[in-house]
Amino acid sequence: MLPLPIKATIKEVGPRDGLQNEVHQVSTEHKTAWVNQLSESGLSYIEVTSFVHPKWIPQLADGKEVLASINKQPGVTYAALVPNMKGLERALQSNVDEISVFMSASESHNVSNINKTINETYPVVKEVISAAKAAGKTIRGYLSTVIACPYEGAVEPEQVLRAADHLFSMGIDELSLGETIGVAVPTQVEGMLEKILPHFPVEQLAMHFHDTRGTALANILKSLEMGITTFDSALGGLGGCPYAKGAAGNVATEDLLYMLAEMKIETGVQMEALVAAGEYMEAILAKPLRSRQMEIHRQLKRGQELERKR
Ligand code: HMG
Ligand code: MG
Repeated sequence: MLPLPIKATIKEVGPRDGLQNEVHQVSTEHKTAWVNQLSESGLSYIEVTSFVHPKWIPQLADGKEVLASINKQPGVTYAALVPNMKGLERALQSNVDEISVFMSASESHNVSNINKTINETYPVVKEVISAAKAAGKTIRGYLSTVIACPYEGAVEPEQVLRAADHLFSMGIDELSLGETIGVAVPTQVEGMLEKILPHFPVEQLAMHFHDTRGTALANILKSLEMGITTFDSALGGLGGCPYAKGAAGNVATEDLLYMLAEMKIETGVQMEALVAAGEYMEAILAKPLRSRQMEIHRQLKRGQELERKR
C-alpha cells in the first residue's frame, strides 16, 4: 500500500454523465448557469456535454450552445464526450478544450452503447483522436465496464488491459476506468488495478465510479491507496448510462470532497460553492439530489427554519 497522496483532482462529469440520464429537459440557459457555478467552485475540470447522436441522448443536443454560452474560467478545462467524426465535427465548432473518446471493455455494452463491436470501434476512435490532436485538443479516453458488464457479468482484467493498451497506443493523454454499473467492491478494484497499473503511468489513469450500491467511496479509497489521484464524480450523485441497465448515479462530488478534505487530501474545491450549485440543480429538476452532503444541508436548513419560527 502506497502512502495516501496529499493532492487529488476531481473531474466533474455532472453536466454530461449526470444530465444525460435525466428525463426532465434542462434548458440551455439553466445548463449554462450551472456550469458557470461549477466553474467557480474551484473545480479544475468540467465535462460539459457530449456530441453523441441527439436521438440517443436528446438532453445534450444543445452541447454547442452550452459551450458557446459559458464563462470559461482560466485554469479550468472544459471537456466534451465524442463518439465519432460526426461528433468531433460538431465539437470542434465549439470552444471545447478536451475531447473524451469512449468505448467499453465488454462487447455487449459496447454494442448497446455505441452500436459497434469493440473491433469496429478502434478505427473510429483512432480517427477521432488524430483529428482532435491535429486541432490542438487534449484527449481523454473512457473505458466502461472495467469490473462488470450489465449484460455479460464479470469482466476480466485482461479485457480491460487489451482495450487500455489500444487506447494509449492511439494517443490518449489520460484513461478513465469506468465502473459503469456501480457493483464493484474494493477487492475487485484492487484485482483489476494490480493487472493494469504495471502497464501505464499512474498519473495518466483516473477512476470513474458509479455508486449504485454505495461502494464508490470505498473503491476510491482503495484506488488512492494504489496511487491513483484523479477521480470523476457528479454533483448530487446525478448520472448513469442509459445503455447500461441498472446503472445509478456517479459518486457525488460533494461526498467525495468531504472524504478527501477530511483525509487532508487537497483538491482546491469549495464545499459551499458545490452545495449552492447542488441547490440550484435541485430547483431545476424539482427533486432532492441524492448525496449525503446535500441531505445534511437540507436537514440543517429545516432546523434553521424551525428555529426561526419558534
Ligand atoms: P449509429 O446509429 O450507429 O450511427 O449510432 P451511424 O454512424 O450509423 O450514423 C447514423 C446517422 O446518425 C447518420 O445520419 C449520422 O450522420 C448520424 P444520416 O446520414 O442517417 O442522416 N450521426 C450523428 N449525428 C450527430 N452526432 C453524432 C452522430 N453520429 C452519427 N455524433 C452513435 C452511433 C455512436 C452515434 C450512437 O450510438 C450514439 O450516439 N451513442 C451514444 C450513447 C451515449 O451517449 N451513451 C452514454 C455515454 S457513455 C457513458 O455514459 C459511460 C461513461 O460515463 C463511463 C462509464 O460510466 O463507464 C463515459
Ligand atoms: Mg459514467
